[in-house]
Amino acid sequence: MVNLPPNLSVRNNHLFIGGCDTTELAGTYGTPLYVTDEDRIRDNYQGYVTALSLYYPRTRVLYAAKANGNLSILKILAQEGAGADVFSSGEVHLALLAGMQPGFLLFNGSSKTKEDHRLAVEKGIRVSLDSLDELSQLNQVAKEAGKVVEVSFRVNPALDVPTHPKIATGLATSKFGIPATEILDAYKAALSCEHVTPVGIHCHIGSQILDIEPFAQEARVLMQVVSELHRLGVKFAFVDLGGGLGVAYDHHGSAAPTFSDYAGAVIPVCTDTFSRLGIQPEIWIEPGRSMVCDSTILLTRVNSVKRAHKTFVNVDAGFNTLIRPAMYDSFHEVLVANRAGEAACGTFTVTGPICETGDILAHDRQLPDITAGDLVAVLDTGAYGYAMASQYNGRGRCAEALVRKGEADLMRRAETTQDLMHALVTPSWLK
Ligand code: LLP
Repeated sequence: MVNLPPNLSVRNNHLFIGGCDTTELAGTYGTPLYVTDEDRIRDNYQGYVTALSLYYPRTRVLYAAKANGNLSILKILAQEGAGADVFSSGEVHLALLAGMQPGFLLFNGSSKTKEDHRLAVEKGIRVSLDSLDELSQLNQVAKEAGKVVEVSFRVNPALDVPTHPKIATGLATSKFGIPATEILDAYKAALSCEHVTPVGIHCHIGSQILDIEPFAQEARVLMQVVSELHRLGVKFAFVDLGGGLGVAYDHHGSAAPTFSDYAGAVIPVCTDTFSRLGIQPEIWIEPGRSMVCDSTILLTRVNSVKRAHKTFVNVDAGFNTLIRPAMYDSFHEVLVANRAGEAACGTFTVTGPICETGDILAHDRQLPDITAGDLVAVLDTGAYGYAMASQYNGRGRCAEALVRKGEADLMRRAETTQDLMHALVTPSWLK
């Protein structure tokens, strides 16, 4: 039997989330439907804050907006006091619209445009620089605006981490960051720029990391760099350790490290160095997945069941709605939401409606007997779920609902056929 997280429960054979019956939610809002439990996000945020501040009071959580950029989710986190790791002008606008303070944002990214830099300068948002080329471009933009912009550089710590190679971001061969061996020269160059002031340092080693040691290793690399930069005269306002803490997608007994495990492994590494240097910068972290992943389920309706060499359950959500299984071979727990109390009686493969063989949400799962019209729930889809959805195969993206203590409302409507057309223009010779 699947171990359900605290925001999910089974009542009268139905799966509930945040006190709401999933079969009613699917009936009201249609499927596919992402359903997010607000309290779970607030709890995760507070879990981080409590764990970090136990070790050091000057900590800040910058939610990685890329994981789930719905405005309502950003608003919830803004209410809690979070900042955000933003990776595009779009994410900057959303975070500000949600009520986040510009000073609590860090504009990350290895390939920013002049417009991105202009926006950061105009709004007073700090920028994490990824190259010397970017440094001179930002300096020029700030000069034109008659302003000085505060920056950090992203360090590439050359760490091999235990995760899917596509989401390891701090390998020596990765496109991100400046090698630790070259970082001093980058800060020297920044110190000589009139319109840029280096006030921080930034790092990210990868995502869905279930070991704590790589985070401690990263902190040790960063602290070595911080010590050298301190000697160079850099005045640190923040040290940003990045995100990356993994979650347990398998609900049959596996566990992920806790926020306390994380804080206990990394914060003392930093505070030891801070005390030695006599500095007190803020420590920032940028969690995405571990903040929102378990807050959300994806509800998808069974269109048909086909008994072939396997039993295929054809549902209405495919990799257009949730790409993670197709892209990273990732595992998501699957339940039959309207038979949630029934015992498994067979092996089923849950497949989407997309015209590709790889459109499989779940392989060979033990589930109760399923028929057309049943409702399947895919768990832990709050991070990189809707955020990576597409309109492939001419399908509008689905709706997102928010639930809170038995109350439900939409936080994004489903796209219509008209939405599929709205950005299309016809070249003159085809009119
Ligand atoms: N900060 C930076 C600079 C990042 O690149 C990322 C994620 C984060 C923070 C948040 O990391 P998290 O706490 O979520 O692990 N689409 C992939 C994950 C890509 C992560 C990319 N960077 C997936 O579905 O597994």
